[in-house]
Amino acid sequence: MSSIYGMAVDRRKFLLGSASLASVTMLTQGARGASAPAKEFTLVAASAQAPLVGSPHSDTNVWCYGGRVPGPEIRARRGERIRVRVENRLPEETTVHWHGVRVPNAMDGVPHLTQKPIASSEAFVYEFDCPDAGTFWYHPHQRSFEQVGRGLYGALIVEEPETVAVDRDVTWVLGDWRLLKDASISDDFGNMMDVSHNGRVGNTVTVNGRVQETFYARSGERLRLRLINAANARIFGLEFEGHKPQVIALDGQPVEPHEPANHRVVLGPAMRADLLLDMKGGRGQRFRVLDTFYRSLEYRLLDLVYTDEPPLRDLANAKPIQLSNNPLAEPDLKNSERHEMTLGGGMMGGMMSAMMNGKQADMRTLMHNGLVWAINGIAATGHIHEPLLTLQRNRSYVIEISNGTAWHHPMHLHGHSFRVITRNGEATRYREWQDTVLLNPRERAEIAFVADNPGDWMFHCHILEHQAGGMMGVIRVA
Ligand code: C2O
Ligand code: CU
Repeated sequence: MSSIYGMAVDRRKFLLGSASLASVTMLTQGARGASAPAKEFTLVAASAQAPLVGSPHSDTNVWCYGGRVPGPEIRARRGERIRVRVENRLPEETTVHWHGVRVPNAMDGVPHLTQKPIASSEAFVYEFDCPDAGTFWYHPHQRSFEQVGRGLYGALIVEEPETVAVDRDVTWVLGDWRLLKDASISDDFGNMMDVSHNGRVGNTVTVNGRVQETFYARSGERLRLRLINAANARIFGLEFEGHKPQVIALDGQPVEPHEPANHRVVLGPAMRADLLLDMKGGRGQRFRVLDTFYRSLEYRLLDLVYTDEPPLRDLANAKPIQLSNNPLAEPDLKNSERHEMTLGGGMMGGMMSAMMNGKQADMRTLMHNGLVWAINGIAATGHIHEPLLTLQRNRSYVIEISNGTAWHHPMHLHGHSFRVITRNGEATRYREWQDTVLLNPRERAEIAFVADNPGDWMFHCHILEHQAGGMMGVIRVA
């Protein structure tokens, strides 16, 4: 990875108040009646001051929901209906996308494709059922490379119908910022250097909106740790020294509990992992959580610090937790139709030309339009397009995604979860359900799903600069 910027801002001791996120303003509990009552929330998108780095640095001027980063956590139960009123007090249009939630198309928050963008000082009400339990998140889909990069995002947690036997349910929303020396946000959003390389990888990482020093835990505690990568471009590879986290869900969907490969939890932008973390250390001990994804840029995310309290319980024989499955349709692989999606472009990608607005354009013309990436030879200029694919409703599909570039790409499909069934031709061990699949440079992966949600759905790279640079398309389910 090219390091353009050093760590501009020193890590500062963070005074631990409460590790938990502040709770969201809940307006009213819908009246009980014949129709499903919706749980109501309000999100106000506006600029605010946030103590990202902490004193003596000044607060950072951010864009966020509800005056804080991350925005208020939205929490519902599986099957529950939520209604979220979004007020736009930003100086530009916005929308909200409910990443990973299988919403009806009109609630998907894609500007021009599924809704008119919410103009400055207007509001829009989203309302949908939460069909799956799990860890999801919300963020704008309008100029997201800048809006998300300035702090617009929050967690959306859907609880299982059953109680999950853990002592604490903790969410870490991972944010990545490119800050200047005075802790203000560098405003070089969407520059071609970022767009054509690995995106806007910043220089300051926050957990729940703060540079963190420590996370306190008690010996003998069992934690459910929900990790959400809300960064524009940074890929995380977290190692928990002295601990053996078990992955119990990916992108919200349960997975057979397992230790992550190489003891490292890898999360591309937009991806989530739920970890079962047994705190087996002793009183007063301290362990590092490291992010080792980019070889030359390893750093300590924070320390896990054990309090002096006596152990809560003996975890020696604690059983893994298998979450109950969500109601996802199982793809019928024998009767599935196959398609291919090839990712092209970027530096060292050798892309010479691509289709732009229905015409073949050479690299110079593409670059002139801010485009350097393509899917199946098409560089997208906005959210509305002739679909790359039209799928038949309720049919099973296998799509092979081939990364023909020298870069990583977390590819996200809206409106569906899919199984990742092979990588480079080999069956995956857990056939994990995901909504975002991270492809290594030159890697191929097959995903399988039932196209059971009608509408026009975005399929794009979640490195937001790559998306803006053309790596985006529409898949229609008709
Ligand atoms: Cu998380 Cu199309 O987005
Ligand atoms: Cu990408």
